[in-house]
Amino acid sequence: MQFLMIMWISSLLLGTQAQNTASFSRGNDRNRRCQYTFTVDSPTESSCPATASSAEIESLKSRLGLVEALITRLTGGETSVTGAQSELRTAYSQVTGERDRLKQEKARLAQQVEQLQQTVEELRREAERLRSRPCPQQPLYDSSHQAGTGTSQSHLVSRPSRPQGDPSNLRDPSWSYSSPAYQELKADIAEFPAPRPEDPEDSKGCGELVWVGEPVSHRKADSIAGRYGVWMQDAEAAGPYGSNMLWRIDSVGTEVRQLYGYEDMDQLSRGFPAKVLLLPEAVESTGAAMYRGSLYYQRRRSRTLIRFELGSESVAARRELPHAGFHGQYPYSWGGYTDIDFAVDESGLWVIYSTNKAKGAIVISQLDPHTLEVKKSWETNIRKSTVANAFMICGRLYTVASYASPNTTVNYSFDTATSQSKAVAIPFQNRYRYNSMIDYTPSQRKLFAWDNYYMVSYDIRLGKQQ
Ligand SMILES: *[C@@H]1O[C@H](CO)[C@@H](O)[C@H](O)[C@H]1NC(C)=O
Ligand SMILES: *[C@@H]1O[C@H](CO)[C@@H](O)[C@H](O)[C@H]1NC(C)=O
Repeated sequence: MQFLMIMWISSLLLGTQAQNTASFSRGNDRNRRCQYTFTVDSPTESSCPATASSAEIESLKSRLGLVEALITRLTGGETSVTGAQSELRTAYSQVTGERDRLKQEKARLAQQVEQLQQTVEELRREAERLRSRPCPQQPLYDSSHQAGTGTSQSHLVSRPSRPQGDPSNLRDPSWSYSSPAYQELKADIAEFPAPRPEDPEDSKGCGELVWVGEPVSHRKADSIAGRYGVWMQDAEAAGPYGSNMLWRIDSVGTEVRQLYGYEDMDQLSRGFPAKVLLLPEAVESTGAAMYRGSLYYQRRRSRTLIRFELGSESVAARRELPHAGFHGQYPYSWGGYTDIDFAVDESGLWVIYSTNKAKGAIVISQLDPHTLEVKKSWETNIRKSTVANAFMICGRLYTVASYASPNTTVNYSFDTATSQSKAVAIPFQNRYRYNSMIDYTPSQRKLFAWDNYYMVSYDIRLGKQQ
């Protein structure tokens, strides 16, 4: 067996290395053991130098080293192949994730497109409705003030005696006394009762709010810009305008600067402004208030409070409301950037807002109406974002629970005199289901509100002073 093996190896070697120079012998060694000897000629060397064998070993060693290095590289290579595979897998899952995200984004955008289409459709219908009316009720602009430089003699604009073009185009349909619109308006106006002297609690100064009446509609805004807004009456009118004057700002839009003035409720209802003032800086949302001959408002996208004096038609004071959140940080529940809300009551000018320190709870500050400085602040324990709106009566803050529910409640009050708060439950109606502004108007002892295009008012009753 061993022999056969050797024969096989020898024939192998013979075949590859030396042609016919191999020899084989057999004989006893020194210990008389039988020994096979197998000899092959070197293919390159004719004789064996002494160092040859070690050089050969060295070269073999280095070749072995190369082979080992190669093997290591190959094994290492295999590891990096697995690495590459896992990298690929990660990249693949990233791509799949990205694709899923894009799909979601696409769905979201599709939804937005749908919403926008709905809005466009709504606007189209609104435009159609307006066009189909016999006469667009265009406000009269006082041209001397439109340019912002004029010094007009009269502060109230009267109807032009000689309108340009066809006078019938300018006629307000509600001026025709027999028209159904006028009858409707008369009904509305009739619903606006005079103060009731028979109710002594009401006329005798301050007290707690105990009752809110049904909303009375005075006017519907005639364009989408009036979906929400603010209307006001100065409780302590001063300057060129009388105490019956009513003011209105349509608040939809990014550059809201028009302030419309009406001589009285009757004129407001007919829709004909006696005065249009252009404010020097844009108004944010529905928080403005009118007090002592000035319009107080929040400048758009800022916590800057502005006092615009009606008499001089210029900014009389401006001041940052310290730490106040603005532009969507602490709005009322319906949003609309209602972060900063002015209020007027028997005790003066207030501002209702929140700060980071208050963590979104309503903060009330009483302001110096001349300089807009904060005189004193109160922190309540009700979150501004949970309530639909808030107003002040006799130094007390009240909040309304919902802006959309037709039957909701005034459900919370905070008394600045005692810093005490309490839950209340006074029924309150949002007839048009989108109430964007609620303010107390001390001169009328009414709440004024702007509910989905409608300027409405509510009678109130105050309880005995405590
Ligand atoms: C008032 O109503 C709002 C909205 O429903 C609610 O979040 C809040 O807790 C209510 N406050 C009280 C005092 O009941
Ligand atoms: C709201 O209340 C009035 C009376 O208080 C009632 O007639 C009306 O049906 C109520 N509306 C809803 C939607 O509950």
